Amino acid sequence: MNDKSCVDPAERHRKVAVITGVNVGGIGYGIAERLLELIPCEALVLVFACRSHTRANNVRQSFLNRYPHATIDLVTIDLNQFTSVMQACQDIQHRYHHVDYLFLNAGYLSALGLRWGSLVSLFLKSPTALMESSDATIQATGEINNDGLGKVFATNVFGHYVMIRQLESLLGNAKDHGRVIWTSSSTASSEFFTLDDWQGVKATLPYESSKWACDLLAVATNDYFMQQTLNIRSFTTSPGVVASHIGNLPLWVIYLRSLIHWLFRLFGLASQNINGYRGAMAAVFVALQPLVVLNEMLRYTSETTRWGESYVKPYVLHLEVEAAWELIDRVEHQYQALLAKSKQE
Ligand SMILES: NC(=O)c1ccc[n+]([C@@H]2O[C@H](COP(=O)([O-])OP(=O)(O)OC[C@H]3O[C@@H](n4cnc5c(N)ncnc54)[C@H](OP(=O)(O)O)[C@@H]3O)[C@@H](O)[C@H]2O)c1
Repeated sequence: MNDKSCVDPAERHRKVAVITGVNVGGIGYGIAERLLELIPCEALVLVFACRSHTRANNVRQSFLNRYPHATIDLVTIDLNQFTSVMQACQDIQHRYHHVDYLFLNAGYLSALGLRWGSLVSLFLKSPTALMESSDATIQATGEINNDGLGKVFATNVFGHYVMIRQLESLLGNAKDHGRVIWTSSSTASSEFFTLDDWQGVKATLPYESSKWACDLLAVATNDYFMQQTLNIRSFTTSPGVVASHIGNLPLWVIYLRSLIHWLFRLFGLASQNINGYRGAMAAVFVALQPLVVLNEMLRYTSETTRWGESYVKPYVLHLEVEAAWELIDRVEHQYQALLAKSKQE
């Protein structure tokens, strides 16, 4: 049983939005910004679930300067550590009666640098692919975390899955359906993922593998919620291309790439959203639209015209539902194993 003694009664009438990974300039920041624009402060509680309390608090302060009446709470979470995710979820369970929107936004891209040769050849052969993929980025491979899981998978997929399972009852308490909003990527595709290596440990592109796993789990968890007649729905989204700090690229690379993104957008490449505010459009759209207009077999994607007008475009997910079910079985099994282990300790 959750201890609800510390839940503020006024909070029961507000929308509670949990966002993982909120950094200045990132998509999480854009999600928070858009929610504050669209929902009055007295009707909204934002919960930033972040790895660094100090950085999250700085973001919180910058929002409070603009929205002094906003309620923004902080929860510390390291998605790469099972015990940290469990602790964060316990904090959320103690503090809130319900969760309306769970934005699974945090993401890890293990960039080691750039393949300058590929960068130049891609630029000459297919400049569009260069601007929309991370093909020229050298990704670390074979990284394993302390729980014995593929590190990129653990952060981008598994930690978020644990959040869903732990917050299931709070999501089910939402007035409308609780919504789980995954952050995939336009680069996610079945070609980068195999069930034989579902944690992407052997993958040369573990990030892309993990993002396809997000798509699969978005579909499978939605099926699960419906089968269990839970008051929850799950959708997948893509922010398009945003020049954020993901991959810890040097600042000069971020500025240079922003300039190039601007040029490509001017030439009509709609994926080039460049900033987190535009990139966040699809996630917030999926959170706030009536359920009847949404479809879990689509990936809702943020795009921007050359004139700077952003919109949401749904793309059909060409995935095998059986693969989605197979993956959720394995992930659930892993979750139960770590749960049992943590109870023994
Ligand atoms: N930028 C793009 O073009 C693009 C394209 C497609 C998809 N996406 C996805 O969009 C999402 C947001 O990324 P972004 O581009 O906005 O980059 P970002 O601002 O760097 O956001 C990533 C966030 O994830 C957090 N994070 C990383 N590892 C974590 C962990 N172990 N535990 C908890 N939080 C962790 C980071 O926290 P720290 O500050 O502590 O590192 C950061 O707040 C990601 O899922 C990304 O894969 C981005």
